[in-house]
Amino acid sequence: MKIRHRITSIMLIGGMVLVSSTIAALETDKDTGMVIDKGFETVKMHCTPCHSARLVTQNRMDRDDWLKTIRWMQETQNLWKFPPESEKEILDYLAKHYAPHKQYRRAPLDVKWE
Ligand code: HEC
Repeated sequence: MKIRHRITSIMLIGGMVLVSSTIAALETDKDTGMVIDKGFETVKMHCTPCHSARLVTQNRMDRDDWLKTIRWMQETQNLWKFPPESEKEILDYLAKHYAPHKQYRRAPLDVKWE
């Protein structure tokens, strides 16, 4: 790759990162890295005592799979049961912010690389 092409690519990528971070300007909590939005406090309270919040934020699942993961922890990892309204809040939050990428992303930019 010619150096000029490389510089152009780097600038392009930089621009894309800037644009996407501006679009997705949701604040994240500095302790946990979790998105701050409705349900955040509940999820932080219930989902970080046993393991790092990273285990949550690194995962992407739809609502059903989040529920299955919670049930699995309840059945095998001593996770406590939630009152229905807290469970709904947790699932709403997870399904909104930690959903599989493609569902919540815009279409890829139509960038011509060469
Ligand atoms: C009572 C302890 C406990 C609490 C509270 C807890 N978990 Fe877990 N969770 C675990 C254990 C233990 C594992 C397995 C960790 C490992 O494999 O290293 C786990 C694993 C996970 C995984 C990875 C699952 C996989 O398939 O690899 C995710 C995602 C997860 N937890 C999310 C959550 C969420 C969301 C909450 C809050 C609703 C939560 N956890 C609360 C104990 C807990």
